[in-house]
Amino acid sequence: MVSIVSNCDLNQAKNLSELEKKIFNTSWDPSWIREKINNQNAIYWIKKENDEIIGYLAIQFTGVDIEILGLGVLQNYRRKGYASDLMVTMMDYLKQYNYNKIFLEVRDSNNVAKALYSKFNFNRSGTRLNYYKDENAALYETSINNE
Ligand SMILES: CC(C)(COP(=O)(O)OP(=O)(O)OC[C@H]1O[C@@H](n2cnc3c(N)ncnc32)[C@H](O)[C@@H]1OP(=O)(O)O)[C@@H](O)C(=O)NCCC(=O)NCCS
Repeated sequence: MVSIVSNCDLNQAKNLSELEKKIFNTSWDPSWIREKINNQNAIYWIKKENDEIIGYLAIQFTGVDIEILGLGVLQNYRRKGYASDLMVTMMDYLKQYNYNKIFLEVRDSNNVAKALYSKFNFNRSGTRLNYYKDENAALYETSINNE
């Protein structure tokens, strides 16, 4: 089951930060995560298995648009549709509101993530050169179909 994290204590923020670290080797500081969520600048959705958080999707609000901050699933739980579950839940949630577009950046070499975003009707809109220390970012966007 996917659950929404729309308020967060430091303990939960630590868990989210540790999960990011396991997946990306880098992570946001727990207090930054807690503030972003509690100030309603960000929402995390999490996927749990046996009480362990094994995947997450984080967005932040940028005016009328949304930016995906991160999406990841622990190695042993991949290819089970969990990232798709997180994406569907996030997109269903956003349809209730009047947001315009969802934007994201992804490493240009990350073909797995690029395939996933294309599957969810994101279109490549450009390239940001040297966005990462060692690599360009591919920029993707999609419109939110409000209900
Ligand atoms: C990208 C990631 C989140 C996908 O998670 P997942 O739970 O394995 O994804 P799903 O099982 O829901 O797969 C959804 C789609 O992604 C694509 N995909 C996932 N794994 C793939 C792989 N190994 N090879 C090719 N395409 C793949 C496919 O389009 C797949 O749809 P399909 O099953 O109909 O073919 C996961 O690989 C991950 O955490 N990677 C490291 C972090 C990362 O790169 N995050 C994205 C950048 S922010």
